[in-house]
Amino acid sequence: MMNVRSALGLSLLALAIGQPLTSTAVETPGQHQNTPAGADELKFGLPESVGMLRGPLEQLVANMTNYTQPANEDIPPEPGSVTIIGHQGTIVSYFAVGHADLYADVNGTHLPPEQQEVATVDTIYDMASLTKIFTTIAALQQVDSRKLALDATVASYLPAFAVNGKESITIQMLMTHTSGMQADPRPGLYAPEFKNRKQRVEAILSQTPVSTPGTAYLYSDLNYMTLMLVLETVTCQPLDALMANLTNQLGMGDTFFNHGNIEGPANPYYERTAAQEFQIDVQGEGAPKRPQPVRGSVHDENAWALDGVSGHAGLFSTVLDTAKLCQMMLNNGTYNGQRILEASAVDMLFHNFNGEVVDSPARSLGFELDKYATAGPLAGERTASHTGFTGTSMVVERDSGTFAVHFANRVHASREWGVNGEVREMVGYWVARALGREV
Ligand SMILES: *[C@@H]1O[C@H](CO)[C@@H](O)[C@H](O)[C@H]1NC(C)=O
Ligand SMILES: *[C@@H]1O[C@H](CO)[C@@H](O)[C@H](O)[C@H]1NC(C)=O
Ligand SMILES: *[C@@H]1O[C@H](CO)[C@@H](O)[C@H](O)[C@H]1NC(C)=O
Ligand SMILES: *[C@@H]1O[C@H](CO)[C@@H](O)[C@H](O)[C@H]1NC(C)=O
Ligand SMILES: *[C@@H]1O[C@H](CO)[C@@H](O)[C@H](O)[C@H]1NC(C)=O
Repeated sequence: MMNVRSALGLSLLALAIGQPLTSTAVETPGQHQNTPAGADELKFGLPESVGMLRGPLEQLVANMTNYTQPANEDIPPEPGSVTIIGHQGTIVSYFAVGHADLYADVNGTHLPPEQQEVATVDTIYDMASLTKIFTTIAALQQVDSRKLALDATVASYLPAFAVNGKESITIQMLMTHTSGMQADPRPGLYAPEFKNRKQRVEAILSQTPVSTPGTAYLYSDLNYMTLMLVLETVTCQPLDALMANLTNQLGMGDTFFNHGNIEGPANPYYERTAAQEFQIDVQGEGAPKRPQPVRGSVHDENAWALDGVSGHAGLFSTVLDTAKLCQMMLNNGTYNGQRILEASAVDMLFHNFNGEVVDSPARSLGFELDKYATAGPLAGERTASHTGFTGTSMVVERDSGTFAVHFANRVHASREWGVNGEVREMVGYWVARALGREV
């Protein structure tokens, strides 16, 4: 069955989503200070209108389709995916392939055909750790408004954090993963010994670092759980309310936390959300007790234990919504005529803060830099990228004004089937080819 819905059949797509097809009106970047509303918004256009090659973008669709189909009896790396590519303020490719819901059990038995659901460009995905990028932007808004300082200690906002060697951890260390905290809380926050959110928050605050703060890189969900607690303290708002403000500003109507872990059709987004893992079969009886496969409530067990809202995971989104955040970065902080971040804050998303830290890859605030495993040939010193465990990734190449967002439910039906790293690299490969590069 051919179920590719490619934006290269562009007029069809533009009609389908009610957007006029403006293939030639390309804005000149640079004049963002007094940009009228709409002028710095993403629009749809033909690749040729922004100097890109159509052929490699067509190959990208075929290639992503291939990664959803079994080769040599193997389980494909992704059951389905949605991809969006933008360059110079113009969406040049936007398509879905494969399935949002395909498997009947953890062993990969297919659902009967009439119960299978194809992925569409509107499919909502659990973004997993891409949530950290949104939390980063929300934190930088507080830096811009002087309520938060990167070099201030966490303990200056959260006195209870100043225990077990964490007194000197700064906000910047949280955002560059150099606080020295372990990768995630052990035991997990969903362990039965924790009875309520208060006890789970205490478990976060009472962590003991595994290395001296500021001396080593260790990617840690605890950093962004902690950043959530800081943001809630300085703004006097829960993180989901703060995030709703940001997503409203950016015009993201399909980006949200499922606060309260609402299951099944009671969640208004349930039907549109991709199915994930048969988590209890994979993780055993310790996994959160909920309908299987996980669908519509957050896959990450620790975010689930925090009522579905955390700084490290919990956001759901579409690739089109997340594309707006990418374009805001490329616009140096504005979108649709509104200033989201100061240009100086955006600079920090592309600046390597970990150069002096032994054994750290290049990292800005929140993002990885120059990371081939995520960006493929788009990797570079001014290419910011991030991945999410469920199979999501985003790549923003500053110098050329290009972004690529790829959402997949690769943990459907099991996280143990492997990773989709090759798929991520190939998105970058075909986009680099479309930019006319020899790769
Ligand atoms: C954004 O800022 C960078 C660094 O200052 C600059 O090179 C680039 O031209 C700016 N882009 C836009 C769209 O203003
Ligand atoms: C897709 O898979 C087919 C069959 O294996 C192969 O011939 C083709 O080259 C692949 N296309 C891309 C773009 O990867
Ligand atoms: C995707 O495209 C790359 C580059 O041509 C190719 O090496 C790879 O085999 C393709 N993957 C699939 C699954 O077709
Ligand atoms: C999956 O396969 C394993 C190993 O064959 C088996 O023990 C298990 O019962 C199967 N689970 C389901 C849900 O079919
Ligand atoms: C939303 O964010 C804007 C910009 O940061 C801020 O001015 C406004 O006060 C915020 N609104 C709420 C309700 O927090």
